[in-house]
Amino acid sequence: MLKAPPSDTSSGKESNVSYYSKLYPAVFASAQDCFLYDSGGHRYIDFFCAAGSLNYGHNPPRAREALLNYLDAKGVIASLDMLTEARTTFVSRFHEAILAPRNFSYRIHVTAPTGADAVEAALKLARKVTGRRTVAYMEGSFHGVTLGALSVTDYPHVRGAAGIPFEHTLRLPFDNPTRDADDNLSIISALLGLSSTELPAALIVETVQAEGGLRAARPEWLIGLQKLLRERGILLIVDDIQVGCGRTGTFFSFDGLPLAPDIVCLSKSLSGIGIPLSAVLLRPELDVWEPGEHTGTFRGNNLGFVAAAAMLDLWLDESFVAHIDDLDTLFSSLSHSLLASHPDKIVGIRGRGLALGLEFQEPTCANAVMRDAFKFGLMIETSGFRGEVLKIYPPLTASEEVMREAFSVLSKILH
Ligand SMILES: Cc1ncc(COP(=O)(O)O)c(C=O)c1O
Repeated sequence: MLKAPPSDTSSGKESNVSYYSKLYPAVFASAQDCFLYDSGGHRYIDFFCAAGSLNYGHNPPRAREALLNYLDAKGVIASLDMLTEARTTFVSRFHEAILAPRNFSYRIHVTAPTGADAVEAALKLARKVTGRRTVAYMEGSFHGVTLGALSVTDYPHVRGAAGIPFEHTLRLPFDNPTRDADDNLSIISALLGLSSTELPAALIVETVQAEGGLRAARPEWLIGLQKLLRERGILLIVDDIQVGCGRTGTFFSFDGLPLAPDIVCLSKSLSGIGIPLSAVLLRPELDVWEPGEHTGTFRGNNLGFVAAAAMLDLWLDESFVAHIDDLDTLFSSLSHSLLASHPDKIVGIRGRGLALGLEFQEPTCANAVMRDAFKFGLMIETSGFRGEVLKIYPPLTASEEVMREAFSVLSKILH
């Protein structure tokens, strides 16, 4: 176990708003693969992955090398949305490695830097395309904290900070696994049919509600939802910011399902190395933007493009994809054994693929395990609006050895 770290590392010089510095009270100095090292030289297994921004681990060599070469060659850093070689390479690589193999014809709107930027663009576009004002969102959702994104975020802690009431949004129930998927959809259908309901422009949904406690929608519910929305001319926006880019085991969280969202939001692990980069994928017919109508200074994050382009080819590499499958199997088996050994504390396993969570009977217990794990050098987070789910995000590149080490820490704490 590590020495007790100081409880506040910012010494009052930074705003109290910082959050993760309080969850993981250390000053970090370097990072590689699955590990973070603090300034005292302590090693931490990072199964938090910057909330899904480091799906390939820290400093993945191919992205790091591409960035070093780019800096050495005095590549363009800031360029708004002018064309640069870095940008055009990223766009073609994204097309070749991700879109073309799936026969997707999406256009890319680079909305960088944050995930909330992608959500803002998606909501605005849906309203512009349909001429409708309302956007529907799901109970339990998290889409970011800028005002537009917050208006479709259900998380009370952050929503309350807006300081204004939200208008033109409609909250709908997420898939409830205790009921038949069709019954859940009938409730949505009834709510949309109410005379007091203004038909929404779009519905924004996470296929696995990550901050909401790793609640995974069932495939049949998602497919039924798409049908229901299409029948009413409501656009389907999938927010794949946290569970896309491989977190569920495939690049898109909806891969393998007969789903064709109208708009997809991506960010977090898109750059592959944690450099801010976000994008909206839109069906070409929806591209009604006038040039410059939705743009901004940092829409051309060339370092993000360079790193992303270096990483995207991995999705064409069979050994990488096979490693994720193996990791998925191991992760699931380790989680189930932990559940079987501690039925008094852990009541279930949530999530899908490498976005798994252990649901605790008591949120206080999940919180205590997270804090103890940090003292033993393992970084994990809680999620769920009561904090009842221990969210475990190993990098997709994690070895069997590090997975077993992380779970042995958890089992030591739970005994
Ligand atoms: C699903 C989802 N959408 C949007 C966001 C917002 O992204 P950002 O924090 O980069 O603004 C997040 C952040 O956690 C998220 O999990």
